[in-house]
This record gives sequence, structure tokens and C-alpha cells, in this order.
Amino acid sequence: MPSNKTGRSVVCTSAILMSLVTAAILLPASVVRAQGGHDNAASAATFRTKCAMCHGPDGAGSEVGKSLNVPDLRSPAVQKLPDAELAQIISDGKGGMPPFKSSLSEDQIHAMVKYIRSLGRKK
Ligand code: HEC
Repeated sequence: MPSNKTGRSVVCTSAILMSLVTAAILLPASVVRAQGGHDNAASAATFRTKCAMCHGPDGAGSEVGKSLNVPDLRSPAVQKLPDAELAQIISDGKGGMPPFKSSLSEDQIHAMVKYIRSLGRKK
């Protein structure tokens, strides 16, 4: 049955083609996602090393932070502030909060604003 055989190989070829097409569609998406993940990992590391000693790993405030009256970064009071104001507080400091403009780049400060937003969404 030669015709049957040809039929199967056509099915086979189109299955391979389909998976190639699917891979071509999915691949760029996963690359983008991986880069986003890298960004997040970098921001999380910056937050852990520069901010967590006062704000706690999840933004709620560490023991030290609570003695300085840090606000819960996840709270509506902080989350309602516009990005520009959060960025300004991080760069210039406020009350017991030290300024970070000399130790973080502008990009890193914006990454911290984004990171604080992501803490707010997790609550
Ligand atoms: C030495 C402790 C300390 C460190 C380190 C610290 N903060 Fe703060 N932070 C504070 C205190 C204290 C406040 C409350 C300031 C006030 O309202 O008087 C605060 C407030 C804030 C606020 C909210 C201000 C508001 O008005 O609601 C943000 C946002 C913030 N910090 C982000 C950060 C980020 C991002 C980092 C790391 C780059 C960081 N902080 C590191 C002590 C700290």
C-alpha cells in the first residue's frame, strides 16, 4: 500500500513543521521572559543588599527598620505615591532613610521603584 505510506509521511512532515513553527513562535517570548526574570533577580539582589536591613526582605520592615518607623512598603500609603516621588525619596532620602543617589544609578533607582510596586502586588 504505497499510497498509505506517503500519507503517513505527509502527516509526519506536517507534524514536524507544526512543532518548528510553534517553537519559532514560543522561543522569542521565552527569551523576553528570561530577560525580565534577570532584571527582577538583579533588583531583588539590590533590594536585599541595600534596603532589606531596614525594610525587610518583603518590604514589611525589619526590626531595625521598625525602630526607625519605616512604613510597610506594601501598604497603600506607600503604593499610592507616584513613581517620581518614590524615586526621589530613594535618591535623596527622607527622615531616617539614607539617600542612595551616590550608591545607586538612576536605572537602579527606577528598578527599585518597580520592585516596590511588585512587593505591593504580592500582598
Ligand atoms: C537605614 C535604614 C534604611 C535603609 C537602608 C533604607 N530605608 Fe527606606 N526608609 C527608611 C525610613 C526610616 C523610612 C521612613 C522615612 C520617613 O517617612 O520619615 C523609609 C522610607 C522609605 C520609602 C517610603 C517613603 C514614604 O514616604 O512613604 C521608600 C519607598 C523607601 N524607604 C525605599 C527604600 C529603598 C528602595 C531602599 C534601598 C535602596 C531603602 N529604602 C533603604 C529607612 C531605610
